[in-house]
Amino acid sequence: MAVQLFDKRFVVMAGKGGVGKSTMAAATAISASRRGLRVLVVELGGKEKVANLLGYQGNVGYTPTQVRPNIDVINVQPEPALAEYGLMKLRFERLYRAVFENSLVKSLTRMIPGMNELVLIGKAWHLEQETIDGKPRWDMLIIDAPATGHGVSLLVLPHVILEAVQSGPLASETRLIRDLLIDRKRTIMNIVTLPEEMPVNEALDLRKQMETTLRIQPGVLFVNRIWPQTITKHDIALLEYTKSAHTNTAEVLSNGRFFGRRTTTQQRHIDRLRQECDLPMVRVENQFRASFDMTAIECIADQIDASPFLC
Ligand SMILES: Nc1ncnc2c1ncn2[C@@H]1O[C@H](COP(=O)(O)OP(=O)(O)OP(=O)(O)O)[C@@H](O)[C@H]1O
Ligand SMILES: [Mg+2]
Repeated sequence: MAVQLFDKRFVVMAGKGGVGKSTMAAATAISASRRGLRVLVVELGGKEKVANLLGYQGNVGYTPTQVRPNIDVINVQPEPALAEYGLMKLRFERLYRAVFENSLVKSLTRMIPGMNELVLIGKAWHLEQETIDGKPRWDMLIIDAPATGHGVSLLVLPHVILEAVQSGPLASETRLIRDLLIDRKRTIMNIVTLPEEMPVNEALDLRKQMETTLRIQPGVLFVNRIWPQTITKHDIALLEYTKSAHTNTAEVLSNGRFFGRRTTTQQRHIDRLRQECDLPMVRVENQFRASFDMTAIECIADQIDASPFLC
């Protein structure tokens, strides 16, 4: 089953904490830029990471910044997003300061549940709308969502608000965001996971939520950090056989056994994903490198390019 990822404008990466969402966002950005697309990676509410993974020195902050040809990155945090929204609504900076920098209003906005999430996803929507000379500024926005629980609450929020409020300015603005999220022409959501117990459980749970609560179009399942099957049972048997004759074989054998156990366990989780998750799988190998940098990301982009499912 082919997944048309590279013709979508709003590509969400979701998954448990630490599984490689930012890594997949960075590698997918490279893959898309190789196809001639202008990409913006939007880091939502998390630590700034993607620009550095793409070889950029320093911070990009709340301004779309070019980090490579055809790739811009922005880190969206609630405070500047709220300030920008306030300015947009109140127009005059002095009036804005009088209202939003008032400590009572500040603590009130902090108390309104979901306010921070709404401005984050609202900013992502706003970036999708940006044009230059009447044409969209970017062809593809890659949304690096926060780790699962928070990421889902962010994506489900527009649905929740619209159930509670059907008219007025809040409803009409939220409707625009909701319509982007459920638009199958523009939006797709990928799940990132590791071949390990907890990340697999969360990935399967996330897959269910895509249908039930999010109503978002499912993309692919990135299974990250897969160890290569370089040592076979036959290799182990051969080492066992020669163990007595060569002194250093024992150490090689123990490393080989460890490697073998690890790949067997990973395979068990991959088999479970194949049985219980209907999304096409993109396999990403673990990078055995001293530093996880741009070269590693390029290598992962090569694997994305080689995937038979993505077009
Ligand atoms: N394919 C890989 N090979 C080797 N190491 C990897 C690979 N993918 C990710 N890593 C390692 O895992 C770390 C976490 O990855 P990443 O920051 O992309 O995860 P994340 O899901 O975005 O985390 P968070 O939930 O904290 O935002 C990376 O810094 C890197 O060291
Ligand atoms: Mg991240």
